[in-house]
Amino acid sequence: MTDQELVEVAKKYREHAYAPYSKFKVGAAVLTKEGRVYGGCNIENASYPVTNCAERTAIFKAVSEGEHEFAAIAIVADTPGPCAPCGMCRQAISEFRIERIIMANLKGDMQAVSLEEILPFAFTENDL
Ligand code: THU
Repeated sequence: MTDQELVEVAKKYREHAYAPYSKFKVGAAVLTKEGRVYGGCNIENASYPVTNCAERTAIFKAVSEGEHEFAAIAIVADTPGPCAPCGMCRQAISEFRIERIIMANLKGDMQAVSLEEILPFAFTENDL
């Protein structure tokens, strides 16, 4: 699957975003090493910190289906430039060693970065 195709899946899941408070819809899609794809959206809550970001929704959906080996994750939102994952999602991406992070927006801007680029000095199991 190409980066563009993964972004298209993320865009589809963005439409499911539950974002009545921020109105900021985010979609994500994670690709397993075997080629399966799981999508996710942000899910907000009246108690704001309970909100789950799109990236973590996609990752948690995949992990709950027994997936642990990932090749890439795509994130998309209606942002001026490619949408970057928040710090908490970077940590979740790091936990599952997702090496390719594809950031995109609705205008078609797209940028792929590595895990090391997006979260240098990551806190990992080796630090425990
Ligand atoms: N959001 C994501 O889904 N992913 C990110 O990486 C950044 C933020 C969501 C959370 C909240 O619902 C909305 O965007 C505004 O912060």
